[in-house]
Amino acid sequence: MAKSTTTFTCSACGASSNKWSGRCDGCGDWNTILQDAGLSTSGPTGKTSKSLGARRGASVELTDLATEEAPPPRTKSGLEELDRVLGGGLVPASAILVGGDPGIGKSTLLLQAAAAFARSGLKTIYVSGEEASAQVRMRAQRLDLVDAPVKLAAETNLRDILTMLEKEKPKLAIIDSIQTMWSDTVDSAPGSVSQVRSAAHELTTFAKRNDMSVVLVGHVTKDGQIAGPRVVEHMVDTVLYFEGERGHQFRILRAVKNRFGPSDEIGVFEMTGRGLAQVTNPSALFLSERGTPSPGSVVFAGVEGTRPVLVELQALVAPSPHSQARRTVVGWDGGRLAMILAVLESRCGIPFAGLDVYLNVAGGMKISEPAADLAVAAALLSAREDVALPEGAVVFGEISLSGALRPAPQTENRLKEAQKLGFTSAIAPSGGKTIDVVGMSLNQMSDLTAFVGEVFGAG
Ligand code: TYD
Ligand code: MG
Repeated sequence: MAKSTTTFTCSACGASSNKWSGRCDGCGDWNTILQDAGLSTSGPTGKTSKSLGARRGASVELTDLATEEAPPPRTKSGLEELDRVLGGGLVPASAILVGGDPGIGKSTLLLQAAAAFARSGLKTIYVSGEEASAQVRMRAQRLDLVDAPVKLAAETNLRDILTMLEKEKPKLAIIDSIQTMWSDTVDSAPGSVSQVRSAAHELTTFAKRNDMSVVLVGHVTKDGQIAGPRVVEHMVDTVLYFEGERGHQFRILRAVKNRFGPSDEIGVFEMTGRGLAQVTNPSALFLSERGTPSPGSVVFAGVEGTRPVLVELQALVAPSPHSQARRTVVGWDGGRLAMILAVLESRCGIPFAGLDVYLNVAGGMKISEPAADLAVAAALLSAREDVALPEGAVVFGEISLSGALRPAPQTENRLKEAQKLGFTSAIAPSGGKTIDVVGMSLNQMSDLTAFVGEVFGAG
């Protein structure tokens, strides 16, 4: 069977195909498909399956599910926000990917983490492929970390790095960034999909074999010229994304995959002039800029992983001067907003046609929980009717397409957090078990129409 040796790979998600196209079938991104130079396809060919049939494999040992093994020992960095996202500390011989936009603070976070782990006794090496050692040292000075026993290297040649790691035998190596690493066995430019994949593969297998943990830093790229961190997500044990808005000082470290812990935890940091400071009470910070309740503003009692987080949702609804009304969302899902607008229109008879709708999650936070539905609906209605919600109220609950309200998980946690921050009432779906939190009055409703009638006096 004649097989073309030219393959094309998406630099965003790593999907490969044998022809070029403008849009990737895998992830839907535009202009991310690049040609892989001289890389043969790695799938099984007719030839290899024939030779597999001829040779008998060695026997593979089978085991039972029952285990006597203790859970992996963990090293804590002492940075509580980081340890929680890792699932309680660093697991030996694990591979971690930290992705994020350029300039968001990944190098800052990892230098602080390197110092913290080194101080707690792990031999740590920080390899910078982007900055000279002098630059990293200057940052360390600014962050007041110069006394931490971290060893630095400024290098991009993978072979040299692996030789150095083999000699030094650290327990933790930080590679900043995976896109600058290059291996001379791969015939393409640094940052290309095949280089990034090969470097990540070599580093993770080295780590597993040598009982070393490795952290790979990956820049999220929009233009497709260099490969994004998604192409290595499947190779590592833990994937963390460092998020935030440029104009805001809040940064959120979010676990999206974790073989050794929960995958929905977040750690909250604040970028200051002296590095990242931990935010142990994010709700207080997210609500700190909030004044008296005004139309369009609603406090959502959310949960991120094991931790309740209160955030303010802001909506603006105004007559549209355009033939097609605008729908703009920051920090939430645009598709979900369209759904809520459709439910409000068809189940409650409240049209948004001809109205521009803007929705913003304050503080640069991103929300993905379905329980935000009711808070979004409340913000939209409050903005449209120009009526503020009752003072001291938080809102949460999922909305189904029928307009019914579904109970949200961890109701008690949400209520307790709201009470702690001085809120006195909650609007939530009925159903589920009854929960009493002292100082909080719970106003439960079973569908959106009841909510509209009760809170806004309309139907
Ligand atoms: P950096 O860690 O270099 O980002 P990344 O590695 O993700 O590209 O952080 C860059 C930004 O952080 C830069 O704009 C300056 C800012 N910063 C501070 O505000 N305070 C600090 O103490 C440091 C070190 C950086
Ligand atoms: Mg950096």
